[in-house]
Amino acid sequence: MSISIEKITPVIGGEVSGIDLAMMTPEQGQELRAALAERGVLVFRDQKLDHAAHKRVAMHFGTGKLHRHPLALSAGSNDPDVLLVKATASSKFAAGDGWHTDVSCDLTPIAASLLYMREFPECGGGDTLFASMNEAYELLSDPIKSLIGSLSAVHDGALPWRQGYGREPDAGMTFNRTVHPIVIRHPVSGKPLLWINRGFTTRIEGLSSFESKYLLDMLFHHIEATPRIQCRVRWAPDTLVIWDNIGTQHHAVWDYYPHTRAAERVSAIGGELRAA
Ligand code: SIN
Repeated sequence: MSISIEKITPVIGGEVSGIDLAMMTPEQGQELRAALAERGVLVFRDQKLDHAAHKRVAMHFGTGKLHRHPLALSAGSNDPDVLLVKATASSKFAAGDGWHTDVSCDLTPIAASLLYMREFPECGGGDTLFASMNEAYELLSDPIKSLIGSLSAVHDGALPWRQGYGREPDAGMTFNRTVHPIVIRHPVSGKPLLWINRGFTTRIEGLSSFESKYLLDMLFHHIEATPRIQCRVRWAPDTLVIWDNIGTQHHAVWDYYPHTRAAERVSAIGGELRAA
C-alpha cells in the first residue's frame, strides 16, 4: 500500500494515510523523513503503538538517536525514552501550553518529536497549533532579515521551569544553556528559518536588555499572530503526530481543564545547527 498525504494548509501539515507505523519499513522511513521536511507536521490516525514500536518509528528520524528528557522519569514515565505529557484536574500548568520548540537549549536539539495520544479530554479541545519557521522567516522584511542574520541568542532550559512553576528550578537540578544563531538552515531542506522561541530563548547576545527584549518580542509576536504560517491539529486517541522540531514550533492549547489529556512523546536528536 502506498503512502498518501493530504495537506492541512497550503503551507504546513499533512494527514497521512496508507501506513501502519508498527510495521514501518526503512523505505517508508525515508519517504516520511522527506515528507516531514516538506510539510513540517505529519498526522497519523488509528495507529496501535506500544513503547517499543513508538521508539522504533522515532529512530527513523534525525540522527536515529533518541532524546532522554531530564524530567521523563519524574514526570511519571517508567521508560526514560518516553516523556509523559499529561494534564489533569490537579495540574497547575500544562506542559507545552505556550509557543515553543522542544528543548532548543540543547547543543544538538531534537530533530523530530512523535506524540501519541492515549487519553483525550471528553469535553473536546486540547488541539495543538504548529507554525512554520521557514515561512516566518520569509515573511520578514529584508532589513530585519539582515539585522537578525548576524545575531545569536541564548536558549536556557531553566526558562520553562520558571514560566511553568513561577520559580527557579529545585537545588541540584541543572538544565542546558546554549547560544544558537537566530537564523539557521534546515538540516534536510537547507532552507533558512527562524530559531528563537518564547519557551526557551532568554536574550540576544550583544544587544542591551531593552533592545533584546523588544526584538525578541517582535519576532515572537510575528510567529504567534500570523495564522497563514500555522495549522491546528485535532487529536483523537491512537493518533500519532510527528513534528519537525527544527522547522516548526508548537503550542498545545490547555482549554480542557479540569478534564484529562494524556499523551506520550518520543523524540529523535538531530545534529549540530548550521547558521544560514
Ligand atoms: C509538547 O510540547 O511536547 C506537547 C505537545 C502537545 O501536548 O500537544
